[in-house]
Amino acid sequence: MKNTPPETGGFFARDRAMHPPAYTPWYKTTVLRSPQRALISLDGTKSEVTGPVFGHNMLGELDNDLILNYAKPGEMPIGQRIIVHGRVVDERGKGVSGALVEFWQANAGGRYRHKKETYLAPLDPNFGGFGRTIADDDGYYWFKTIKPGPYPWPNGVNDWRPAHIHFSVFGHGFAQRLITQMYFEGDPLIWICPIVKTIPDEEAIKRLIAPLDMAATVPHDMRAYKFDIVLRGRRSTFFENRKEGN
Ligand SMILES: [Fe+2]
Repeated sequence: MKNTPPETGGFFARDRAMHPPAYTPWYKTTVLRSPQRALISLDGTKSEVTGPVFGHNMLGELDNDLILNYAKPGEMPIGQRIIVHGRVVDERGKGVSGALVEFWQANAGGRYRHKKETYLAPLDPNFGGFGRTIADDDGYYWFKTIKPGPYPWPNGVNDWRPAHIHFSVFGHGFAQRLITQMYFEGDPLIWICPIVKTIPDEEAIKRLIAPLDMAATVPHDMRAYKFDIVLRGRRSTFFENRKEGN
């Protein structure tokens, strides 16, 4: 088993070994955007650390239903109907209540609704591909969606992204935003994806793969995938935007 830092008291040292190096040339865009100079540390301002506070009153009724939140009345997007659910927890497994969880994804054909998207798979007129929810008192969140398709991207001569959903988690301030991606159990593209392969720790990759959760399926309707988001500690989810410090 790999050496992990001891968990002592209230402080959990970050395991930097699970993070990709900033410069990973097989993921081409890292060549130009990786830092050329030593990093500097910036303190968060008061407003970054303390605000805003997200409340349920900011949510729309269909914000956690990507099947219906963009569909025309009486219509639905094409694709596999699924539920994604899990808990946002701290390093000790305690739920983070009130966390704002946002998600965005491609449609069933692997196409994003974005003006710079160039993949030839069609847009689905009934699928927007984004939503949000707020974790309950136990840190639990869930949403309905269509399983996204894999898509090719310009990197090497034939690189594909595995099916995935992007996640953003806000705690109680803008400085606490964390971003990651969820993959689906059994997808062979996960292990050959140049972006996934920048993560040097295989266990960290596995924590990004949501298992099929038959216990949470709705018979004759939807399958379910379970994705717990662990904010810190040795079982922490890998976050793309927090590569430094704790
Ligand atoms: Fe994506």
